[in-house]
Amino acid sequence: MSRKLAIDLGTSTLQIYAEGKGVVLDEPSVIAVDKYLNKVTLVGREAAELLEREPEGIEVVRPIRDGVISRFSHTVVMLQKFIKKSCGRSLIPPQTVIAVPSIVTDVEEHAVRDAAVSAGLKDPFLIDEPVAAAIGAGIDVTSDKGHMIVDIGGGTTDIAVICLGGAVLSSSVRVAGDEMTAAIIKYVRNKYSLLIGERTAEDAKIAIGSVWRRNDIQTVSITGKSLKSRAPLLTELSSNDMTEALEEPVTRLIEEICAVIEKTPPELVSDIAETGITLTGGGCQIYGLDKLISSITGLPVKTAEDPALCVVIGAGKADEAGLIPERNKTRKY
Ligand SMILES: Nc1ncnc2c1ncn2[C@@H]1O[C@H](COP(=O)(O)OP(=O)(O)OP(=O)(O)O)[C@@H](O)[C@H]1O
Ligand SMILES: [Mg+2]
Repeated sequence: MSRKLAIDLGTSTLQIYAEGKGVVLDEPSVIAVDKYLNKVTLVGREAAELLEREPEGIEVVRPIRDGVISRFSHTVVMLQKFIKKSCGRSLIPPQTVIAVPSIVTDVEEHAVRDAAVSAGLKDPFLIDEPVAAAIGAGIDVTSDKGHMIVDIGGGTTDIAVICLGGAVLSSSVRVAGDEMTAAIIKYVRNKYSLLIGERTAEDAKIAIGSVWRRNDIQTVSITGKSLKSRAPLLTELSSNDMTEALEEPVTRLIEEICAVIEKTPPELVSDIAETGITLTGGGCQIYGLDKLISSITGLPVKTAEDPALCVVIGAGKADEAGLIPERNKTRKY
């Protein structure tokens, strides 16, 4: 039976795909809670506006951490509000596919199912995120040719080798977009004695983030608080600054990719040498990341079209085509 919705419950963004309509919601997975009334007052984009500004009496919460639920009741309310916003009220609980990182504990998996049911969703069906990402990137996951997917989200990077409809090998590391943003904050503090907030650092990363030296150097102006005078200070960051700032987290990320390749059986490695590594997730859009990964692994690397939407589109498409692979316990190492 066909399910009606697909959801990517991400650390940074929550996306909903509706059968026959496509992506109907793409908003930050953030809520604002009135501390006195213990009530969720804002969700998504509106709540994210309050991050780092937290007005008196309001707590701004990210209920998903590192790809898994960290605040159960807040996740339920966030899901309810987003479903209502994107689909309206429905008397029949929508049937749903939910993408989860390939390496989650049984407890984490149960939490996702329970949260979905508590939010009014029927019979939630869980699908491995990398498998969904691969389908969303246009890869024929049912073929016997091996493919490697690297999904770089906000909290985690999922690396998986996919073949015959499932992940043969997978790994999940807590180095992704958020760690890159944190590395920029640290770099600016050390190099320019300037304190900047997460939003400033993330905006700069999205504007000029780069891990490969570029000839056309890009710059962006940022404002922070001087560590010396404590006064507001404006400075300019360049794409070369970004390359230095991002070196450490990106090196860790690539080391993990290399570790997975090392554990991949030789036949599949030779498939990947042909099919290449496909990058998905919002975090893969840093300038030069594909070139850097390719130069270190020696394998072809391509960035998927609309990388940040691959997981949710893939989960929806897998369902529409009736080819959802059962979420199996993939081999951990
Ligand atoms: N153009 C861009 N360049 C660099 N990074 C970007 C860009 N756009 C978004 N990002 C980063 O992508 C990350 C969010 O990606 P995505 O929406 O795929 O994460 P998620 O699915 O919510 O997280 P996770 O998969 O870890 O649970 C954020 O860290 C954001 O800063
Ligand atoms: Mg994700």
